[in-house]
Amino acid sequence: MPRLDATSPQTALHEPVHHDSAHKHVSGRAHYTDDLPVPQNTLQVLIAQSPHAHARIISMDLSAVASAEGVVAVLSAQNVPGINDCSPVAGDDPIFAYDTVSYVGQSVFAVAAVDMASARAAIGLAKIDYDILPAIVTIDEAMQEGTFLGPAATISTGDADGAIAAAPHHLDGRIVIGGQEHFYLEGQAALAVPGEDGDMTLYCSTQHPSEIQHKVATSLGLANHAVTVETRRMGGAFGGKESQGNLPAITAAIAAKLTGRPAKTIYDRDDDFMLTGKRHDVRIDYSVGFDDDGKIRGVVFEQALRCGMSWDLSESIAARAMCHADNAYHIKNMRIISHRCRTNTQSNTAFRGFGGPQGMVGIERVIDAVAHHLALDPLIVRQRNFYPHKDISDHGVTPYGQPVEDCVIQDIVSTLVKTSAYTKRRKAVELFNKANRYVKRGIALTPVKFGISFNSSFLNQAGALVHVYNDGSVHLNHGGTEMGQGLYTKVAQIVAHVFSIPLETVKITATTTGKVPNTSATAASSGSDLNGMAAMRAAHAIKTRMQDFLAEQSQIDPKDVHFSDGKVLVGDQYYSFAEAAHRCYMGRISLSSTGFYATPKVHWDKQTLTGRPFFYFAYGAACSEVVVDLLTGENRILRTDILHDVGKSLNPALDIGQIEGGFVQGAGWLTTEELVWNEQGRLMTHAPSTYKIPACSDRPVDFRVALFAEGENSEATIHKSKAVGEPPLMLGISVLMALSHALQSAGESGEYPALDAPATCERLLMRSIALGGPCV
Ligand code: MTE
Ligand code: MOS
Repeated sequence: MPRLDATSPQTALHEPVHHDSAHKHVSGRAHYTDDLPVPQNTLQVLIAQSPHAHARIISMDLSAVASAEGVVAVLSAQNVPGINDCSPVAGDDPIFAYDTVSYVGQSVFAVAAVDMASARAAIGLAKIDYDILPAIVTIDEAMQEGTFLGPAATISTGDADGAIAAAPHHLDGRIVIGGQEHFYLEGQAALAVPGEDGDMTLYCSTQHPSEIQHKVATSLGLANHAVTVETRRMGGAFGGKESQGNLPAITAAIAAKLTGRPAKTIYDRDDDFMLTGKRHDVRIDYSVGFDDDGKIRGVVFEQALRCGMSWDLSESIAARAMCHADNAYHIKNMRIISHRCRTNTQSNTAFRGFGGPQGMVGIERVIDAVAHHLALDPLIVRQRNFYPHKDISDHGVTPYGQPVEDCVIQDIVSTLVKTSAYTKRRKAVELFNKANRYVKRGIALTPVKFGISFNSSFLNQAGALVHVYNDGSVHLNHGGTEMGQGLYTKVAQIVAHVFSIPLETVKITATTTGKVPNTSATAASSGSDLNGMAAMRAAHAIKTRMQDFLAEQSQIDPKDVHFSDGKVLVGDQYYSFAEAAHRCYMGRISLSSTGFYATPKVHWDKQTLTGRPFFYFAYGAACSEVVVDLLTGENRILRTDILHDVGKSLNPALDIGQIEGGFVQGAGWLTTEELVWNEQGRLMTHAPSTYKIPACSDRPVDFRVALFAEGENSEATIHKSKAVGEPPLMLGISVLMALSHALQSAGESGEYPALDAPATCERLLMRSIALGGPCV
C-alpha cells in the first residue's frame, strides 16, 4: 500500500526547507523594485520636503523648478488629478502639503526628471514663503498643551484605584521608551507604468498592494479596476511598508499619468528617515499596588504615544499597546489610559509588534520595580502573576474581556529556567558583581504573550488563487506579501502538501491585485494563518474535483482516490500527479480555484475597547545575560536563551530565523537605536552614521534558540501552527531588564535604576553615575 497519510517529507510540510529566494538574496540576484528592467524613458521622481515643523505656506513659486534642466513635470497639490490624500484610514495625510506643513520632511511638491541628479538640483530652485508657526514636537509638550488626535481612550477592569489603595505596598513611576526606525535594507520604492485607456500598473515594495491600488485610484480619479499593483518581494518592511508605501506609489503614478512615461519613486536612506513614520515612542506613567510576595493587586497605566502629525494607523496601534499592557500577567484590577498625542513630527506607523511591545515594556518595568522594592528575584514576581495555565478550568480574563484559554507560559518558563540554568547563573552574576567594581553583569528572564489577529476584525480575511496546469505543475498566488519572513515558502509547502507533490512543483508567483482582490496588509503576523488557509482551501477544491473525476472514470468511490508521494492512486491504479492532471484536463475538469478564509471567533468593539480581538495568543520567553562597563556604559549580550511557541511549526528553519531576527531587532530598539529630534522638530539621526541598528557583532555571544516542543495551537489554525512574525521582537525586553539588573549594583545607594529606553551606552553611564557608580 502507498502511504496514505501525506506527511511525506517530500512535500516538505513541517520541514526546515530554506527560503525560496535564499540563494538569490545572498547572491544579489533577487529582483527588488529598483532592479526591475525599465524602458529608457523612465522618469525619476523626487519629493521636496518641508524645512519647517509647522508653518503656513504663504506662496509657492515652482517656475524655476519646472524650467530646470532635465525636469519633465512638477507635481504639487495643484495638479493631483484626484483626491490629494495618501492616508490609510483617516483622510488626513495630504500627498502634497497645500496650506500648512506639519513636520520637517513633509512632502510639499515633487519633480519628475530624467535622472536623480537633475531632480535634486531642481528642487532647490523652488521659492516657497512660509509663515512659521509654533510646533509641538515632544510627548511632554503635547501632553502639556493638550494636542491630541482624539480624546483619550480607556480600558478598565475591576477597581484599580481601590485595589492599589488597599494594597500593602504601592509604587508610582514613569518610563520613557524611544521610537524605532524600520531601517529595512530596501528603502521605499515604487515604479508606475502607464497603460492603455489611462490604466496604471505599479510595482511596489509594499506590505499592502490592495491599499496602494485603492489610493492610487482615488488620487488619479480612477476606479480600482484601472490600477494593478504587483509585489514580488520587499527587502524588509517590518510594518514600515503597511501604509508608508502609499506616498511613493502615488507620486510615481501621478508622474506617470501627467507625462505618459513610466516613473519611479525610490527614497534614499536620508529621505526615507525624514519622510516616513516610525515606531511610536511612548511615555508611560504607572501606579501599582502589591502584596508582600509580589502579587500585583492593581495597576493604572497612562500611556502617551507620539503619533505625529496625523492618524496613520495610530488608533489601532494605541489599542494594541493597551491590549498588551498586561503581557502574560493576570491583573484583575487594571486601568489603561491612552493618549494619542498629535505632534509636528513624522506620522508614526506600524512597526513589528504594532504598539504591543511598548505596552509590554510598561508592565515588565512595573514587575522589575516591584521585585526591586521587595528584594525578590523578578522572575518569582513574574511567575506569581501569570495568567492561569490552560489546564486550569478557571481562565483568567484580560482587561479587554478576552478569556486567556491557551496559556502555556508556565511550561515555557519552567523549561527555560532549566535549560538556561537561570538560578545558578543569577547567583553567579551576583557574586561577580560583588567582586567587580567597574564591570557589572545582569540577567533577566522575561515572558511574552502576544495576541494574534488584526484588532480590526474585518481585516482578518484572505484569498488565494491556485492553478494546476495540464503538465501537473502548480501556480500559486495569494494575497500575502513576502518581506523576507518566508511566507511564500510556507504557503507553497501547504499547497504541495495538499497534492502530496514535491515543493518544487509549486511555482511561487508575485502578489498582484489582479489575481487576488481586496486583500489586507500582510501584517499582524497573520500572513501564514490567513493566506495559508486560503491557499489550502483553493488547492483542496481542485483536489476534490480531481478525485471526483478520476473516481468516476474508474467507477470507484472518490474516497478510494489518494494523493501520495507525488502520485495519485485510483483504486489499484497509479498515475503520476502530472498524468492525473492531464486526464482531468482531457475530461474538461477545471483545474483552477480560488480559496478564501476569514478568521473565526474574533470580534472587537472599537467604542468600548472590548471583545475577543485575538484568535489565540503566541507565547515565548527569553533569558539574557549582559555585561556592562560602568566607566563607559559599553555593554554586551553575553548569552541569550529563547524558548518560543510556534505551535506545530510549518517550517522550523524559517521560524527560528524569525525568532533570532525578532529578538535582535527588539534588543536594538531598547539599547542602541535612538531617534533624536531637535527643538525645531528636525530629526537629527537620519542615517546609519547617527542611528545605530544592531550589527552582526551585537548578537548575543552565545545565542540558543529553541522551539517549544509541546507547541500545538489549541485553535484550528493552519496545520496547528502559530504566527511567529512579531512576537519574538518582545523577547528583546529581557536585555533591557538584564541591564536594569546590572545597574542595581552600580553603587551603594540601593536605589532602583529606573532605566529608560533605549538604554544606550550614554544613558547607562549617566544612570550608573547617578546611582553612585564609579566615575573617572
Ligand atoms: N521578517 C523579515 N525578514 N522582514 C520583515 O520585514 N516583518 C515582520 C515579521 N517578520 C518582517 C519579518 C512583521 S512587522 C510582520 S507583521 C510579519 O513578519 C509579517 O509577516 P507574516 O504575517 O507572514 O509573519
Ligand atoms: Mo507588522 S507591524 O504587523 O507589519
